[in-house]
Amino acid sequence: MTDWSDYEQEDVASAVRWHKYDRLAKKLGIPRTEAREFAAWYREKHDIKRESGPIRTLPQLLRHAQLDEEAWSIDHADIKYRETASGPLHTVTAKVRPKSLEFHPVRITIEAPRPTPKPKPADEQVWVVLPDAQIGFYYDEPMHCLEMWDIAYQIISEFDDPNVVILGDTLDATTWGQYQTKPGHQNQFQRTLNTAADLLGGIRARTAGRIEMIDGNHDDRIRKKILKDVPQIFDVIAPGQNRPLVSMENLLGLDDIGVTYHGPYPDGEVWLNPQCKAVHAGRPSGGYTAHTLVQKSTYSIVYGHSHKIEMAQRTLWEHDGPRDVVCWSTGTMARTDGIVPGEKERQNWQRGLSVYQGGVAEIAPFVAGALRFRGNSYKASGAALISAPLR
Ligand SMILES: [Fe+2]
Repeated sequence: MTDWSDYEQEDVASAVRWHKYDRLAKKLGIPRTEAREFAAWYREKHDIKRESGPIRTLPQLLRHAQLDEEAWSIDHADIKYRETASGPLHTVTAKVRPKSLEFHPVRITIEAPRPTPKPKPADEQVWVVLPDAQIGFYYDEPMHCLEMWDIAYQIISEFDDPNVVILGDTLDATTWGQYQTKPGHQNQFQRTLNTAADLLGGIRARTAGRIEMIDGNHDDRIRKKILKDVPQIFDVIAPGQNRPLVSMENLLGLDDIGVTYHGPYPDGEVWLNPQCKAVHAGRPSGGYTAHTLVQKSTYSIVYGHSHKIEMAQRTLWEHDGPRDVVCWSTGTMARTDGIVPGEKERQNWQRGLSVYQGGVAEIAPFVAGALRFRGNSYKASGAALISAPLR
């Protein structure tokens, strides 16, 4: 047998193990009686356990198929037994797949968690304001702007554990809305969730401050679609849990990243200090501007949704003197080259982010490949690409 190939040796071993003496005799070119003697000798020499009769168990089936359990996993197994006229009939089936094809949803692990910073007085707190990211994919093309995410990480790192507020429409949730979508948008949801969790984890890796996330109308598409099409599961809470199964917190693993979610749209809001609140939209539908908003409000408002950069200020005269109210929109963290579905390809959209500190709102616009902030130009370094691989 030493000249035989591995395959031939396995064939003989299998015939021995399963008492296939006719096959063995043919293989060795010897009479059947000698094949039985050979099998007995071979079994003893190689310490092969006696197995005979039909396959009745899953381990027997796996041994028979010579499956390497390191390389294969069992998706499904089925064992049936019934009496027939010719005796008992056992049926054992297993559906297997190579482990190399297994997909593992992303799990965010923040190495060396940073200590919780001491709370600062409201006026000393820095808020980095990140507008609509519209995270999603068109085929393999991201619709969110990875350059903006990369630069946002740099701005966050400029400060000592700043707070971060995310203004909503973090997900584009393209196929969850009522509008028709293209083939390239289909089957992207898992990848979108993984990417969003990675990008949010990138924020957490750079600050121990608060990360507050507001629900946008696009994020809310998921909740609305479930309410419309599968109301049976809407707002269902699994025993022992404290929020609906299908919630942004669960979908994005926000508890693990340390992100607080505020919703549903349009009610989600975050007060950056007693004079300034962040919302997704100044009001649920479009058509408003910073100018119209500031005329109505007695406090400052930073809002997303419009994807435009604009700011309007008003001075209120009160009993102790003047007080400034500022309303502003700080653009988008999404691409503006037409890849994000909208009413048209050439949108009047701008990229940018804001920093709000001590009652002062600063807009940092992304112009000609760089973000301009406090006299400096910030360009993408590749950090966001590294932390958010395409999957
Ligand atoms: Fe929006």
